[in-house]
Amino acid sequence: MNPFDLTGKTALVTGASRGLGKGFALALARSGADVVVTSRTLSSLDDTVAEIEALGRKAWPIVLDVREQDSIEAAAEAAWSAAGHLDILVNNAGCNVRKPALEVTWDDWNLILDTNLRGVFFTAQAIARRMVGRGYGRIINIGSVTCVNGYSGLAPYCASRGGVKQLTMSLADDWGQHGITVNCLAPGWFKTAQNAVMYEDTGWVDYLTDRIPLKRPGAPGDLDGTLVFLASDASAYMTGQTLLVDGGISVGAVKAVPKKA
Ligand SMILES: NC(=O)c1ccc[n+]([C@@H]2O[C@H](COP(=O)([O-])OP(=O)(O)OC[C@H]3O[C@@H](n4cnc5c(N)ncnc54)[C@H](OP(=O)(O)O)[C@@H]3O)[C@@H](O)[C@H]2O)c1
Repeated sequence: MNPFDLTGKTALVTGASRGLGKGFALALARSGADVVVTSRTLSSLDDTVAEIEALGRKAWPIVLDVREQDSIEAAAEAAWSAAGHLDILVNNAGCNVRKPALEVTWDDWNLILDTNLRGVFFTAQAIARRMVGRGYGRIINIGSVTCVNGYSGLAPYCASRGGVKQLTMSLADDWGQHGITVNCLAPGWFKTAQNAVMYEDTGWVDYLTDRIPLKRPGAPGDLDGTLVFLASDASAYMTGQTLLVDGGISVGAVKAVPKKA
């Protein structure tokens, strides 16, 4: 028996219209799962749905805005009824605003925290309430290296991700009794729409690459194995953990040996 096999499992991935979320939905489908995919705009899910169906799996597109309480409840209900039940939730939807901390506004703060922390909690709660009755669930919160590191220009984002790490531990403690595991997959730096502007600066890319022990930013596919591990029975006895998949950047960003030592 392959413990990573997801055949017969159903998953929901938030923010699956593009970027990492689309990659997560396809990784689950490649491992055998049928997938509910969500976005704030139904039409932006067309490509994700087509690619999942091309793999021979079922895909259900559903509208979800994680900043809206009613939207979360409606999407949870629609997903459960479309898929029959859900075994796996990937809490991926997120956003960012890059600014020096002195320039962050009240609205910037609310946008980031409402999406990246409140949205993660209430989406997990809405799905977990339904998972409890079946006594089984795999919840994967998408974090970041900012779960464990602070970065200038990213104060609200880092606060939201630090919160996701703590939330993951609390929910794991709360819901383990119901057969639900809650873990956090924390990616390093991956080029997506969220940060494409950073990658236009080749000097910054060189600076970043130099600080990553594996000497490259993340590439499509780099997160798939860990995501499937956390979604499958291979991780059955693991909960509340944050796994950093970051080329090693979180282990030490300062070069302590001078080039001319
Ligand atoms: N890229 C990286 O290097 C990196 C590293 C660490 C962590 N992350 C995290 O990984 C996740 C995906 O990032 P990404 O780089 O793939 O970003 P992205 O390309 O900007 O995609 C973000 C996704 O989140 C959805 N989303 C945004 N706000 C939403 C809301 N209010 N309600 C529902 N969905 C919403 C978007 O859906 P629609 O716009 O279609 O509604 C989109 O599908 C985010 O949580 C991000 O913070 C990214």
